[in-house]
Amino acid sequence: MTSALPADLVELGREAGEAIEAAGDAASLEALRVSLLGRQGRLTGLLRDLGALPAEERRERGARLNRLKDQVAAAITRRREELEGAALDAALAAERLDITLPPRPSPAGLIHPISRTIEEIVAIFGAMGFSVVSGPDIEDDWLNFGALNIPEHHPARQDMDTFYLPGRHAGSLGGRRRVLRTHTSPGQIRTMRGAAPPYRVIVPGRTYRADHDATHSPMFHQCEGLAIDRAITLGHLKGCLIDFLRAFFANPSLPVRFRSSYFPFTEPSMEVDIGWDRRTGEIGGGKDWLEILGSGMVHPRVLANCGVDPRAWQGFAFGMGIERITMLKHGITDLRPFFEGDLRWLRHYGFSPLQPAILHEGLQPG
Ligand code: PHE
Repeated sequence: MTSALPADLVELGREAGEAIEAAGDAASLEALRVSLLGRQGRLTGLLRDLGALPAEERRERGARLNRLKDQVAAAITRRREELEGAALDAALAAERLDITLPPRPSPAGLIHPISRTIEEIVAIFGAMGFSVVSGPDIEDDWLNFGALNIPEHHPARQDMDTFYLPGRHAGSLGGRRRVLRTHTSPGQIRTMRGAAPPYRVIVPGRTYRADHDATHSPMFHQCEGLAIDRAITLGHLKGCLIDFLRAFFANPSLPVRFRSSYFPFTEPSMEVDIGWDRRTGEIGGGKDWLEILGSGMVHPRVLANCGVDPRAWQGFAFGMGIERITMLKHGITDLRPFFEGDLRWLRHYGFSPLQPAILHEGLQPG
Protein backbone atom coordinates (compact mmCIF):
# COMPACT_ATOMS: atom_id res chain seq x y z
CA MET A 1 0.00 0.00 0.00
CA THR A 2 1.25 3.42 -0.76
CA SER A 3 0.41 6.03 1.76
CA ALA A 4 0.36 9.76 1.21
CA LEU A 5 3.63 11.45 0.36
CA PRO A 6 5.55 12.50 3.45
CA ALA A 7 5.25 16.20 4.14
CA ASP A 8 8.95 16.99 3.46
CA LEU A 9 8.73 15.43 -0.02
CA VAL A 10 5.49 17.24 -0.80
CA GLU A 11 7.14 20.47 0.13
CA LEU A 12 10.28 19.68 -1.88
CA GLY A 13 8.21 18.71 -4.94
CA ARG A 14 6.20 21.92 -4.78
CA GLU A 15 9.27 24.09 -4.31
CA ALA A 16 11.14 22.36 -7.14
CA GLY A 17 8.12 22.64 -9.49
CA GLU A 18 7.79 26.37 -8.85
CA ALA A 19 11.50 27.02 -9.26
CA ILE A 20 11.58 25.08 -12.54
CA GLU A 21 8.63 27.04 -13.94
CA ALA A 22 10.26 30.29 -12.82
CA ALA A 23 13.64 29.54 -14.50
CA GLY A 24 13.94 32.22 -17.20
CA ASP A 25 16.82 30.83 -19.23
CA ALA A 26 18.88 27.72 -19.93
CA ALA A 27 21.66 28.70 -17.50
CA SER A 28 19.44 29.16 -14.43
CA LEU A 29 17.55 25.97 -15.29
CA GLU A 30 20.84 24.07 -15.43
CA ALA A 31 21.89 25.54 -12.05
CA LEU A 32 18.58 24.37 -10.64
CA ARG A 33 19.06 20.88 -12.06
CA VAL A 34 22.48 20.64 -10.41
CA SER A 35 21.07 21.84 -7.07
CA LEU A 36 18.35 19.16 -7.16
CA LEU A 37 19.75 16.19 -9.06
CA GLY A 38 23.49 16.83 -9.14
CA ARG A 39 25.97 14.97 -6.97
CA GLN A 40 25.47 17.45 -4.13
CA GLY A 41 21.81 17.97 -5.00
CA ARG A 42 18.97 17.88 -2.51
CA LEU A 43 17.19 14.88 -4.00
CA THR A 44 20.44 13.02 -4.45
CA GLY A 45 21.16 13.70 -0.78
CA LEU A 46 17.78 12.35 0.32
CA LEU A 47 18.33 9.20 -1.72
CA ARG A 48 21.71 8.77 -0.10
CA ASP A 49 20.13 9.16 3.36
CA LEU A 50 17.84 6.16 2.63
CA GLY A 51 20.61 3.82 3.70
CA ALA A 52 20.16 4.88 7.32
CA LEU A 53 16.46 3.85 7.44
CA PRO A 54 14.97 0.48 8.50
CA ALA A 55 14.33 -1.85 5.51
CA GLU A 56 10.53 -1.45 5.45
CA GLU A 57 10.59 2.33 5.56
CA ARG A 58 13.51 2.47 3.14
CA ARG A 59 11.62 0.60 0.40
CA GLU A 60 8.58 2.81 0.61
CA ARG A 61 10.38 6.13 0.89
CA GLY A 62 12.86 4.99 -1.76
CA ALA A 63 10.08 4.30 -4.26
CA ARG A 64 8.52 7.71 -3.58
CA LEU A 65 11.82 9.51 -3.77
CA ASN A 66 12.63 7.86 -7.09
CA ARG A 67 9.24 8.81 -8.52
CA LEU A 68 9.75 12.38 -7.35
CA LYS A 69 13.21 12.40 -8.91
CA ASP A 70 11.71 11.21 -12.24
CA GLN A 71 9.00 13.88 -12.06
CA VAL A 72 11.54 16.61 -11.34
CA ALA A 73 13.77 15.42 -14.18
CA ALA A 74 10.78 15.34 -16.56
CA ALA A 75 9.74 18.85 -15.48
CA ILE A 76 13.26 20.14 -16.11
CA THR A 77 13.31 18.57 -19.59
CA ARG A 78 9.92 20.07 -20.43
CA ARG A 79 11.00 23.50 -19.23
CA ARG A 80 14.24 23.27 -21.21
CA GLU A 81 12.31 22.50 -24.40
CA GLU A 82 9.98 25.41 -23.67
CA LEU A 83 12.90 27.79 -23.22
CA GLU A 84 14.61 26.54 -26.39
CA GLY A 85 11.40 26.93 -28.38
CA ALA A 86 10.94 30.48 -27.09
CA ALA A 87 14.58 31.34 -27.93
CA LEU A 88 14.12 29.99 -31.48
CA ASP A 89 10.88 31.94 -31.93
CA ALA A 90 12.61 35.11 -30.72
CA ALA A 91 15.53 34.57 -33.12
CA LEU A 92 13.19 33.90 -36.05
CA ALA A 93 11.25 37.04 -35.31
CA ALA A 94 14.37 39.18 -34.87
CA GLU A 95 16.12 37.87 -37.97
CA ARG A 96 13.12 38.03 -40.27
CA LEU A 97 13.98 39.11 -43.83
CA ASP A 98 11.15 40.68 -45.80
CA ILE A 99 11.78 39.42 -49.33
CA THR A 100 8.73 41.27 -50.60
CA LEU A 101 10.50 44.65 -50.23
CA PRO A 102 11.00 46.22 -53.66
CA PRO A 103 14.69 46.66 -54.59
CA ARG A 104 16.26 50.10 -54.54
CA PRO A 105 16.09 51.60 -58.02
CA SER A 106 19.43 51.63 -59.83
CA PRO A 107 20.09 53.82 -62.86
CA ALA A 108 19.77 51.73 -66.03
CA GLY A 109 22.03 53.76 -68.33
CA LEU A 110 21.33 54.45 -71.97
CA ILE A 111 22.54 53.12 -75.30
CA HIS A 112 24.56 55.68 -77.30
CA PRO A 113 22.96 56.56 -80.65
CA ILE A 114 26.04 55.21 -82.51
CA SER A 115 25.68 51.85 -80.77
CA ARG A 116 21.98 51.89 -81.48
CA THR A 117 22.54 52.49 -85.20
CA ILE A 118 25.11 49.66 -85.32
CA GLU A 119 22.56 47.39 -83.60
CA GLU A 120 19.98 48.29 -86.22
CA ILE A 121 22.40 47.77 -89.13
CA VAL A 122 23.37 44.38 -87.70
CA ALA A 123 19.70 43.42 -87.28
CA ILE A 124 18.78 44.37 -90.85
CA PHE A 125 21.79 42.83 -92.62
CA GLY A 126 21.70 39.88 -90.23
CA ALA A 127 18.22 39.09 -91.52
CA MET A 128 19.67 39.09 -95.05
CA GLY A 129 22.29 36.52 -94.07
CA PHE A 130 25.26 38.82 -93.44
CA SER A 131 27.51 38.14 -90.49
CA VAL A 132 29.51 40.69 -88.53
CA VAL A 133 33.31 40.76 -88.64
CA SER A 134 35.74 43.31 -87.27
CA GLY A 135 39.27 44.40 -88.03
CA PRO A 136 41.87 46.43 -86.13
CA ASP A 137 41.89 50.24 -86.01
CA ILE A 138 45.62 50.22 -86.84
CA GLU A 139 46.18 48.88 -90.34
CA ASP A 140 49.06 49.08 -92.75
CA ASP A 141 49.04 51.07 -95.95
CA TRP A 142 48.77 47.94 -98.09
CA LEU A 143 45.52 46.79 -96.46
CA ASN A 144 44.09 50.31 -96.20
CA PHE A 145 45.12 51.41 -99.73
CA GLY A 146 47.28 49.13 -101.88
CA ALA A 147 45.15 45.98 -101.89
CA LEU A 148 42.13 48.19 -102.55
CA ASN A 149 43.69 49.32 -105.81
CA ILE A 150 44.75 52.71 -104.47
CA PRO A 151 48.38 52.99 -105.65
CA GLU A 152 51.16 54.88 -103.87
CA HIS A 153 50.64 58.26 -105.52
CA HIS A 154 46.90 58.06 -105.99
CA PRO A 155 45.14 61.28 -104.87
CA ALA A 156 42.78 59.23 -102.68
CA ARG A 157 45.65 58.72 -100.25
CA GLN A 158 45.81 62.48 -99.76
CA ASP A 159 42.02 63.00 -99.98
CA MET A 160 41.56 60.79 -96.99
CA ASP A 161 43.74 62.93 -94.67
CA THR A 162 45.43 59.83 -93.34
CA PHE A 163 46.93 59.60 -89.86
CA TYR A 164 50.25 57.78 -90.24
CA LEU A 165 51.79 56.25 -87.13
CA PRO A 166 55.52 56.40 -86.41
CA GLY A 167 57.53 53.30 -87.26
CA ARG A 168 56.89 50.59 -89.79
CA HIS A 169 55.73 47.00 -89.65
CA ALA A 170 58.65 44.69 -89.17
CA GLY A 171 59.51 41.30 -90.66
CA SER A 172 57.36 39.66 -93.28
CA LEU A 173 55.25 42.77 -93.69
CA GLY A 174 58.31 44.29 -95.29
CA GLY A 175 58.38 47.81 -93.89
CA ARG A 176 54.78 48.72 -94.57
CA ARG A 177 53.66 51.99 -93.03
CA ARG A 178 51.20 51.84 -90.17
CA VAL A 179 48.03 53.93 -90.49
CA LEU A 180 44.83 54.48 -88.56
CA ARG A 181 42.36 52.99 -91.02
CA THR A 182 40.67 55.76 -93.03
CA HIS A 183 37.70 53.53 -93.89
CA THR A 184 36.36 50.07 -93.04
CA SER A 185 37.27 48.80 -96.53
CA PRO A 186 40.38 46.91 -95.28
CA GLY A 187 37.71 44.68 -93.72
CA GLN A 188 36.96 43.48 -97.28
CA ILE A 189 40.59 42.53 -97.80
CA ARG A 190 40.91 40.75 -94.45
CA THR A 191 37.71 38.81 -95.09
CA MET A 192 38.78 37.64 -98.55
CA ARG A 193 42.33 36.81 -97.53
CA GLY A 194 41.13 34.92 -94.46
CA ALA A 195 38.85 32.33 -96.09
CA ALA A 196 37.57 31.00 -99.40
CA PRO A 197 34.48 32.61 -101.02
CA PRO A 198 31.51 33.03 -100.87
CA TYR A 199 31.34 35.95 -98.41
CA ARG A 200 28.48 37.91 -96.96
CA VAL A 201 29.76 40.16 -94.17
CA ILE A 202 29.40 43.59 -92.65
CA VAL A 203 32.24 45.35 -90.85
CA PRO A 204 31.14 48.09 -88.45
CA GLY A 205 33.87 50.01 -86.64
CA ARG A 206 35.93 53.11 -85.94
CA THR A 207 37.72 55.00 -88.71
CA TYR A 208 40.04 58.02 -88.65
CA ARG A 209 40.79 61.07 -90.80
CA ALA A 210 42.54 64.34 -89.92
CA ASP A 211 39.46 66.48 -90.21
CA HIS A 212 37.51 68.40 -87.56
CA ASP A 213 34.40 70.62 -87.85
CA ALA A 214 30.65 70.49 -87.21
CA THR A 215 30.21 67.57 -89.62
CA HIS A 216 33.65 65.89 -89.42
CA SER A 217 35.40 64.27 -86.51
CA PRO A 218 38.94 62.82 -86.57
CA MET A 219 37.42 59.60 -85.24
CA PHE A 220 34.14 58.42 -86.69
CA HIS A 221 32.39 55.18 -87.59
CA GLN A 222 31.69 53.36 -90.81
CA CYS A 223 30.07 50.11 -91.76
CA GLU A 224 31.44 48.15 -94.68
CA GLY A 225 29.50 45.48 -96.53
CA LEU A 226 30.78 42.73 -98.83
CA ALA A 227 28.84 40.09 -100.76
CA ILE A 228 30.80 37.82 -103.12
CA ASP A 229 29.43 34.72 -104.80
CA ARG A 230 29.42 33.12 -108.24
CA ALA A 231 26.72 35.29 -109.77
CA ILE A 232 26.07 38.38 -107.66
CA THR A 233 25.01 41.29 -109.84
CA LEU A 234 24.35 45.00 -109.61
CA GLY A 235 20.68 44.04 -109.19
CA HIS A 236 21.51 42.35 -105.90
CA LEU A 237 23.44 45.41 -104.77
CA LYS A 238 20.49 47.68 -105.52
CA GLY A 239 17.87 45.41 -103.96
CA CYS A 240 19.95 44.88 -100.86
CA LEU A 241 20.68 48.58 -100.25
CA ILE A 242 17.12 49.73 -101.05
CA ASP A 243 15.78 47.17 -98.56
CA PHE A 244 18.34 48.27 -95.98
CA LEU A 245 17.59 51.99 -96.31
CA ARG A 246 13.82 51.51 -96.20
CA ALA A 247 14.07 49.32 -93.10
CA PHE A 248 16.56 51.62 -91.36
CA PHE A 249 14.57 54.80 -91.96
CA ALA A 250 11.33 52.88 -91.26
CA ASN A 251 9.83 54.16 -94.50
CA PRO A 252 8.74 51.44 -96.96
CA SER A 253 8.46 53.89 -99.86
CA LEU A 254 11.66 55.85 -99.24
CA PRO A 255 12.97 57.06 -102.64
CA VAL A 256 16.47 55.68 -103.33
CA ARG A 257 18.70 56.79 -106.23
CA PHE A 258 21.91 55.21 -107.57
CA ARG A 259 24.26 57.74 -109.08
CA SER A 260 27.34 56.82 -111.06
CA SER A 261 30.55 57.61 -109.19
CA TYR A 262 34.16 56.53 -108.78
CA PHE A 263 36.03 54.47 -106.21
CA PRO A 264 39.34 52.77 -107.09
CA PHE A 265 38.15 49.49 -105.53
CA THR A 266 34.78 49.14 -107.27
CA GLU A 267 33.80 49.07 -110.93
CA PRO A 268 31.22 50.30 -111.68
CA SER A 269 30.86 52.52 -108.62
CA MET A 270 27.74 54.23 -107.35
CA GLU A 271 26.84 56.81 -104.79
CA VAL A 272 23.50 56.07 -103.15
CA ASP A 273 21.10 58.96 -102.43
CA ILE A 274 17.80 59.07 -100.56
CA GLY A 275 14.94 61.47 -101.11
CA TRP A 276 14.45 64.28 -98.62
CA ASP A 277 13.15 67.81 -98.27
CA ARG A 278 15.99 70.29 -98.00
CA ARG A 279 13.70 72.90 -96.44
CA THR A 280 12.13 70.83 -93.65
CA GLY A 281 14.82 68.14 -93.32
CA GLU A 282 12.14 65.49 -93.69
CA ILE A 283 13.57 62.16 -94.89
CA GLY A 284 11.61 60.64 -97.76
CA GLY A 285 9.70 63.83 -98.58
CA GLY A 286 10.31 66.65 -101.06
CA LYS A 287 12.26 66.65 -104.31
CA ASP A 288 15.84 66.83 -103.05
CA TRP A 289 18.44 64.08 -102.85
CA LEU A 290 20.90 63.38 -100.09
CA GLU A 291 24.06 61.32 -100.57
CA ILE A 292 24.16 58.57 -98.04
CA LEU A 293 26.70 55.87 -98.95
CA GLY A 294 29.24 54.60 -101.48
CA SER A 295 28.98 51.27 -103.28
CA GLY A 296 29.92 49.28 -106.34
CA MET A 297 30.88 45.94 -107.82
CA VAL A 298 34.19 44.81 -106.32
CA HIS A 299 37.00 45.54 -108.78
CA PRO A 300 38.49 42.36 -110.32
CA ARG A 301 41.96 43.56 -109.32
CA VAL A 302 40.88 43.73 -105.65
CA LEU A 303 39.60 40.15 -105.87
CA ALA A 304 42.88 39.05 -107.47
CA ASN A 305 44.89 40.91 -104.80
CA CYS A 306 43.12 38.71 -102.24
CA GLY A 307 43.66 35.44 -104.12
CA VAL A 308 40.01 35.25 -105.26
CA ASP A 309 39.65 34.31 -108.96
CA PRO A 310 37.71 37.17 -110.63
CA ARG A 311 36.59 34.86 -113.47
CA ALA A 312 34.78 32.62 -110.98
CA TRP A 313 33.60 35.07 -108.32
CA GLN A 314 32.02 38.51 -108.28
CA GLY A 315 29.95 40.70 -106.02
CA PHE A 316 29.42 44.05 -104.44
CA ALA A 317 30.73 46.19 -101.60
CA PHE A 318 29.44 49.27 -99.87
CA GLY A 319 30.50 51.63 -97.12
CA MET A 320 28.47 54.07 -95.09
CA GLY A 321 29.10 56.66 -92.41
CA ILE A 322 27.33 55.68 -89.20
CA GLU A 323 27.23 59.17 -87.67
CA ARG A 324 25.76 60.54 -90.87
CA ILE A 325 22.79 58.16 -91.08
CA THR A 326 22.25 58.50 -87.31
CA MET A 327 22.10 62.30 -87.58
CA LEU A 328 19.68 62.09 -90.48
CA LYS A 329 17.42 59.59 -88.82
CA HIS A 330 17.19 61.47 -85.52
CA GLY A 331 17.45 65.06 -86.72
CA ILE A 332 20.81 65.64 -84.96
CA THR A 333 22.53 68.65 -86.55
CA ASP A 334 25.95 68.71 -84.87
CA LEU A 335 28.43 65.83 -84.92
CA ARG A 336 30.59 66.99 -82.02
CA PRO A 337 28.32 66.07 -79.08
CA PHE A 338 28.47 62.41 -80.20
CA PHE A 339 31.92 62.21 -78.59
CA GLU A 340 31.72 64.75 -75.77
CA GLY A 341 30.12 62.49 -73.18
CA ASP A 342 27.56 65.10 -72.07
CA LEU A 343 24.95 63.17 -70.10
CA ARG A 344 22.22 65.70 -70.91
CA TRP A 345 22.74 65.03 -74.61
CA LEU A 346 22.79 61.29 -74.04
CA ARG A 347 19.60 61.45 -71.96
CA HIS A 348 17.94 63.26 -74.83
CA TYR A 349 19.18 61.08 -77.69
CA GLY A 350 20.05 57.82 -75.90
CA PHE A 351 18.09 54.58 -76.22
CA SER A 352 16.72 52.26 -73.58
CA PRO A 353 18.81 49.10 -73.19
CA LEU A 354 15.51 47.31 -72.54
CA GLN A 355 14.28 47.98 -76.06
CA PRO A 356 16.77 46.38 -78.44
CA ALA A 357 16.48 46.69 -82.23
CA ILE A 358 14.01 43.96 -83.11
CA LEU A 359 13.33 43.66 -86.81
CA HIS A 360 10.04 41.77 -86.98
CA GLU A 361 8.31 44.62 -85.19
CA GLY A 362 9.84 47.11 -87.65
CA LEU A 363 12.41 49.68 -86.57
CA GLN A 364 11.09 52.92 -85.18
CA PRO A 365 11.39 56.02 -87.32
CA GLY A 366 13.70 58.67 -85.84
N1 PHE B 1 35.47 53.20 -98.50
C1 PHE B 1 34.63 54.18 -99.16
C2 PHE B 1 34.71 55.50 -98.35
O1 PHE B 1 35.20 55.50 -97.24
C3 PHE B 1 33.20 53.73 -99.22
C4 PHE B 1 32.99 52.54 -100.10
C5 PHE B 1 33.06 51.28 -99.59
C6 PHE B 1 32.70 52.69 -101.44
C7 PHE B 1 32.87 50.16 -100.39
C8 PHE B 1 32.49 51.60 -102.28
C9 PHE B 1 32.59 50.34 -101.73
O2 PHE B 1 34.30 56.52 -98.82
